[in-house]
Amino acid sequence: MRRDTILVFDFGGQYTHLIGRNVRENGVYSEIIPCDISLEKLKKLRSKFNVKGIIFSGGPDSVYDKDAPKFDKRVLELGIPILGLCYGHQLIAHVAKGRVEPAKKKEFGYAEVTIDNPVGVLAGLSRKEKVWMSHGDTVFWLPDDFERLAHTENSPIAAFRHRKLKIFGLQWHPEVVHTVHGSLMLQNFIFKECGCTKNWSMQGFSRNAIKEIKQKVGKGRCLVALSGGVDSSVATALVAKAVGKRLTAVYVDTGMMREGETTQIKRTFSKFHIDLKIIDAKERFLKALKGVSDPEKKRKIIGREFIRVFEEQAKAVKADYLVQGTIYPDRVESGSTGKSALIKSHHNVGGLPKGIKFKAIVEPLRDLYKDEVRKVAKDAGLPDKIVHRQPFPGPGLAVRIVGPITEEKLEIERKADHIVTEEIERKGLEKNLWQYFAVLTDTKATGVKGDARAYGWVVAWRAVVSREAMTASFAELPWDVARRISTRITNEIPQVTRVVYDTTDKPPGMVEWE
Ligand code: XMP
Repeated sequence: MRRDTILVFDFGGQYTHLIGRNVRENGVYSEIIPCDISLEKLKKLRSKFNVKGIIFSGGPDSVYDKDAPKFDKRVLELGIPILGLCYGHQLIAHVAKGRVEPAKKKEFGYAEVTIDNPVGVLAGLSRKEKVWMSHGDTVFWLPDDFERLAHTENSPIAAFRHRKLKIFGLQWHPEVVHTVHGSLMLQNFIFKECGCTKNWSMQGFSRNAIKEIKQKVGKGRCLVALSGGVDSSVATALVAKAVGKRLTAVYVDTGMMREGETTQIKRTFSKFHIDLKIIDAKERFLKALKGVSDPEKKRKIIGREFIRVFEEQAKAVKADYLVQGTIYPDRVESGSTGKSALIKSHHNVGGLPKGIKFKAIVEPLRDLYKDEVRKVAKDAGLPDKIVHRQPFPGPGLAVRIVGPITEEKLEIERKADHIVTEEIERKGLEKNLWQYFAVLTDTKATGVKGDARAYGWVVAWRAVVSREAMTASFAELPWDVARRISTRITNEIPQVTRVVYDTTDKPPGMVEWE
C-alpha cells in the first residue's frame, strides 16, 4: 500500500524537522526532501508514496540572496496542494511575481495576526491569533490570482491563498508550539485541503522491520556497536529478533559511562540470546585522554579509540552486515536529504570502521523520529529504563568533566550524576525534561565540612526542557529538589564543597558544557 504522504521541501529552516514530526504526529507519513529536487525525482517519489501535499519549510535566506535556495517552479502546476511557511511563503509570492521586500520592522517572536478571511488552512480560527514569527522580508503585494487571508501590523500579506489552485502561504510558523493554534492550521492543510487519511502508525512497524531485515540479510552475519542508548538498543533488539545468534553486539565500556550502565546492558540483552561482547577498554581510553583539556580533542580521541576497539573486535567476527541505529534526524543532519545539514553539524562517536568491508549496512530505524523509536522500543520488549533513557553524548562523561580527565574525577562525576538522576526520578520530574545531569567543573571553592575548612570541587547540575535539543530552556524545578541534590552531593562526595544549578538557556548556551 502506498501511504498518504506529505513531502516537506527543506529550504534550510531550523524548524524543518518540527514540520515533519507534526505531520507524523497527526498519523500521516512525511518525508523531508531537498527543495531543489528535480521533477523526475519527484515523479519517482510519487510512485513510492501517495503524495497528497507539499509543505515548503522556512529558511534563513532572503529570496534575493545570490545563493537563495530555489525549487522547480513546475511543482506548482502538478495539482498537489502546497503550503509555504515563512521563507516558503515569500518564495511562492516571489515566483508568482508578487512584491517581496524587507519589512519596515523585522518580526521575531510572538506577533498578533488579524485573520481577514478564516478559510482554507485558516478555517476555524478567531479574528485575532497569536503566532510565532521570525522574518526579515515581507510580502507586500500579490497578483489578482491570489487572495489575502491575514495581516499583521508589519506584514500586509501575512497569509494568502491562490484563488483557483490549492496553494497557501503563511508568514509565521505553525509548526512551533508558540503559535497557539498552529496544530489546527496544519491539520486543516493535511486533512481538509490534501484529503489525507491517518494511515501512519508504529503498530506493525516492528513486524515489518524484522521481515525486511530477514530478507536483506538472508543467512549472513550481522555486527552492531551497542552503546546502550535507545537507538542502538532498539536496532539491536530488532536485528536480534530477525537473525538471533547470527548477530554479534559489541559494547565498548570506555569508562565514560554512567553509573550502572554496563550492568544494565548485560542484563537487558542476555534475554535476546545474541553474541554480546562487553569490552572493558577503560584503561586504554584513560591513557589516551591523559592531560587533554580541549573538548574537541577529547571528542576526537574518544572517536578514534572507539573505532580502533570496534575494528579489532569486528575483524574476529567476520560479519557481512553492519547494523546501525541511525534515525531520521541523523540522516537529515548528515546531509543526505536536504539543506538543514548546513545549519547543524552532527557530532557522533563511532562511524564506520574503515578497515573492514561489509556487504551492506542495515539501518532499521532510518525513517523514524526519536519518539517513534521509543514506541518501537516498548514494542520490542525493552525495559522502561532504556525506552525512556535520556539522550547521552557519544563521548559520554568525558564532555561533562571540564579539564583533564582522571579516574578520580570520573568517579566524582559519576556519583554526582547518579544523585541528580535519582532525585529527579524520585519526584517523577523526568517526564517533562529532555535531559538532567551533573557536570564536574574545573573550579574549586572553600567550604566547611564537620568543623574543618574544606577546599573542594564545584559541581554544576543542569536540567533542560526541549523538544529537539535545537533550542532548550533551563528547567524551573522545585527548590526542595535543588536542596536535596546539593545536600546529598556535598555529603556523599567528600571531594565536593559546592553545588550550583545551571540557569542558561540554549541559545546562548549549549545543552552540554563541552
Ligand atoms: P548541545 O550540547 O550541542 O547538545 O546543545 C544537543 C544534544 O546533543 C547531544 N550531544 C551529543 N550527542 N555525540 C552525541 O551523540 C556528541 O558528541 C554530542 N554532543 C552533544 C546532547 O546531549 C544534547 O542532547
